[in-house]
Amino acid sequence: MSSKKRFEVNRLLGQVIDALEKAEKAGAGPEVIESISAVRDMLQRKDEFTDYASSDHGETCEKIQVETYQHDFQADYDQGKIPSVYEAMMLCGRAEGQFLKSLISIQRAKRVLEVGMFTGYSAAAMAAALPADGELVTLDICESLKTLVQDLIKDFRHAHKIRIEIGPALETMARMADNGEQFDLMFFDGNKKDYIGLFQVLIRYVKMRKIKDYIGLFQMAFDRNLLSPGGTVLIDNAFIMGSAFASPDKSSLAHEIAEAVRNRTDLHSALLPMNDGILMIRRLKDVERDAA
Ligand SMILES: C[S@@+](CC[C@H](N)C(=O)[O-])C[C@H]1O[C@@H](n2cnc3c(N)ncnc32)[C@H](O)[C@@H]1O
Repeated sequence: MSSKKRFEVNRLLGQVIDALEKAEKAGAGPEVIESISAVRDMLQRKDEFTDYASSDHGETCEKIQVETYQHDFQADYDQGKIPSVYEAMMLCGRAEGQFLKSLISIQRAKRVLEVGMFTGYSAAAMAAALPADGELVTLDICESLKTLVQDLIKDFRHAHKIRIEIGPALETMARMADNGEQFDLMFFDGNKKDYIGLFQVLIRYVKMRKIKDYIGLFQMAFDRNLLSPGGTVLIDNAFIMGSAFASPDKSSLAHEIAEAVRNRTDLHSALLPMNDGILMIRRLKDVERDAA
């Protein structure tokens, strides 16, 4: 993997690799090179250990992961099937998949909504934690992914719990809210590269519907009651590709989202610094249970 790619996947690791390349080019002494290399190795080993200490992801997730890494997304893009050249690293991976699975079991969730299905890795991880009559609705904008995922999960014993809905997530979610659908847990994982675009689409969409102060996907959950009483919203990539801490500047989209949540006194949030950050949001009264 090139250092540019690493930088995109893990901002801190990318920065260290960049520093190492610069130090080598500048002819830095062996102590400096060793010291920077040690930081690089520790960051890599931290990720490896996080996966190692998390449960095995099972046959279906393994199959999805292997086939996703072999898939030719360039060909899909050339045929106009996907809006950009998707990358296998977009799937959330073992540690996050197992975290989601744990959380569903803790929450005793029966209905889960996912925004951003991709090749179905996180959907499969989460579906395995649902009861037999549970349902995981996963949304994606790409029709071609539906056939791909249906094929990948055809022998999965939890496949019957997975419902795939194709279309722009916010439109699908608005329709679901109109129909009175509710979910115990919602996982927002739009395309990492399109994440900013996703929020811009949201803002445009919201303006169209003239709903004031509607600047985040989480508000669809809380204000339109798509989220069940006692439910939880998870926003993946809350660091927005590390932009939250890449500079001291506090005007990044990540700050904007955090600010929007902080301004809501009826909500409670906790940010888990796993991968690119997972922001967990719940109604305050469900967290501080004697709150008004
Ligand atoms: C990061 S991937 C999801 C990864 C998946 N959750 C996993 O861990 O395996 C993001 C997905 O979001 C989809 N997406 C992007 N914008 C969308 C939108 N506006 N509505 C629905 N899906 C969208 C992309 O097509 C892509 O498949």
